[in-house]
Amino acid sequence: MEFITKDLSDYCENNTSAETDILAQLNRETHLKVVSPRMLSGHLQGRFLSFISKLQQPKLVVEIGTYTGYSALCLAEGLAENGKLISIDVNEETSAFAKSFIQKTEYANKIDLVLADAKDYIPTIKESIDLVFIDADKKNYLNYYHLVIDKLNKGGLIIADNVLWSGKITMSESAMDKETLALHQFNQFVQQDKRVENMLLPIRDGLMVVRKK
Ligand SMILES: C[S@@+](CC[C@H](N)C(=O)[O-])C[C@H]1O[C@@H](n2cnc3c(N)ncnc32)[C@H](O)[C@@H]1O
Repeated sequence: MEFITKDLSDYCENNTSAETDILAQLNRETHLKVVSPRMLSGHLQGRFLSFISKLQQPKLVVEIGTYTGYSALCLAEGLAENGKLISIDVNEETSAFAKSFIQKTEYANKIDLVLADAKDYIPTIKESIDLVFIDADKKNYLNYYHLVIDKLNKGGLIIADNVLWSGKITMSESAMDKETLALHQFNQFVQQDKRVENMLLPIRDGLMVVRKK
């Protein structure tokens, strides 16, 4: 969900750098061929992820939730020379779709697609991390945060998607469903965590941007 009108959202996109041709094709084909295309980050958020990654120039990016590979390709644009991106997903079908697209790009050798439950896989990552994108099952956001925070370098970033959850995040806690409550607990935990600075941006469905001090 977007929190601004369609006109304003279109205006923002029209005044933001364009998607690359391959991203536009991936966006189109995901909408034509894959279930739940709303999950794809899309033009505006994708350019934001690319922008942040280019500022950060990460050696290692970990993405939790590949889907069809759109955000992975955006984040890969900022990788340092010899940098790599590990993208984790449990869904065999969408990961195969992502792979077929990523193979057509200059990032084919920089993106490792891992078919696994992120909760099991993250503990096996030995290298330190510069940038994490959390965009998988909402009930585990806080678990993912706990799993990555000690592996994150000083100055490293975590970006978590959907933290406004179509606006449901402002309901009273007693009225929240499980996913909304989990996202609310994630936001609350980050807000009081002295190890980080954070900013909740109302981009698309809400992005929590966290920087480790
Ligand atoms: C919102 S989509 C990701 C969208 C993608 N980041 C993008 O912007 O184009 C969420 C993905 O998380 C995956 N997922 C859900 N639970 C997971 C888990 N426990 N471990 C890894 N991936 C998971 C789903 O299969 C789905 O493809």
